[in-house]
Amino acid sequence: MQPESLMMSYGYKPELSEGAIKCPIFQTSTFVFKSAEEGKAFFEIAYGLRDRKPMEEPGLIYSRINNPDLEILEDRLSLWEQAEDCAVFESGMSAISTVLLEFLKPGDLILHSGPLYGGTDHFIHYFLRKIGVHALEFHAGQNRDEVIDTVKDSGLAGQLGMIYVETPANPTNSLIDIGSCRKIANEFSAAGRRIPIAVDNTYMGPLWQHPLKLGADFSLYSATKYIGGHSDLIAGAVCGSKENIKRVKTLRTLLGNMAGPWTGWLLLRSLETLKMRMEKQAANARVVAGFLKDHPKVEKVYYLGVLDERDGEQFEIYRKQHSSPGAMLSFDIRGGEAEAFRFLNSLRLIKLAVSLGGTESLAEHPATMTHSAVDRAYLRKMSVTEKMIRLSIGVEHVDDLLHDIGQALDK
Ligand SMILES: Cc1ncc(COP(=O)(O)O)c(C=O)c1O
Repeated sequence: MQPESLMMSYGYKPELSEGAIKCPIFQTSTFVFKSAEEGKAFFEIAYGLRDRKPMEEPGLIYSRINNPDLEILEDRLSLWEQAEDCAVFESGMSAISTVLLEFLKPGDLILHSGPLYGGTDHFIHYFLRKIGVHALEFHAGQNRDEVIDTVKDSGLAGQLGMIYVETPANPTNSLIDIGSCRKIANEFSAAGRRIPIAVDNTYMGPLWQHPLKLGADFSLYSATKYIGGHSDLIAGAVCGSKENIKRVKTLRTLLGNMAGPWTGWLLLRSLETLKMRMEKQAANARVVAGFLKDHPKVEKVYYLGVLDERDGEQFEIYRKQHSSPGAMLSFDIRGGEAEAFRFLNSLRLIKLAVSLGGTESLAEHPATMTHSAVDRAYLRKMSVTEKMIRLSIGVEHVDDLLHDIGQALDK
């Protein structure tokens, strides 16, 4: 069966919850053991003190270690991602930082794509650097040999510990070839040591891009965005192999940055409508992009659906890696910051706010908002200038969106 058919039931047994059709919120810090022997057995499994016996299930102990809302949510997210396992967190940043902390150590090199989400960029360049992790950047358009040479020239090739990729990049929608990253990782992998690839899949997943199938080891999410989908919660997730997620969950237990039961329950509810929401958002985005592309006040549209053969490798990656152009787009307005601000201040239906992926459409100005902490010269090089506006398209009637954008552009 398809994931959307299973989101209402998968992993939940009504008979364990008084027959309730919906999974209740297990708003509890701790769980009662039937006996001391049972408590001992649960801890032995949770702490890896012995292997599980055939048919032995890990028991519920304490909500920092496990909780039914989170476990069912993780099983359901794994279905979308076709992953062996998943771990959910209290934010996208906690999912990202936990994976980086678990799989990198002082002296390692992280090779990452650019531009990155501001929080990730800051974590890599300020926090990881402070604990002795080196960083090297590559971007869309660089060919594989060039990237391999950059790693070799850094003198740190032997210490390459992870490749971290954000694709499509926020806010430019530029694409990185995940399969090609696997080949780069393999080039530096010594026998028995696989260099992991982590992909921030927030923009496209879990519907339209499946990084694990393309050679990545981790698919990371700000679940605050499409997965949550209603701009009413903060959460994160990571999907991958059982072995890798076990390591992630161990560190999560120690850092205590798992999502709470209430957030888990809200996400379960969100997953029931995930596909409908995302498909409607993508259909709206296609119309909005077409409108912007032909508008005299618009200089350029950054949207995967406008790519064609003339865009060369970017178009090839889009065709190979995605099943939809998604619902995120940016555009350059004719003018600069003043014109961009006038447009943003004139919107009536679309709200001026950061974040993305929710049911309501949002607009923001990356250069002075989400990416304001990133070096100006670097942003310019990445085409993120004062004239760029980012739109996250929601589920409204598309005619109302066009009307709102049209009247704001007229101003
Ligand atoms: C692409 C991307 N990754 C990660 C994050 C961080 O997620 P959170 O805000 O849920 O911590 C964001 C937040 O905007 C994002 O846009």
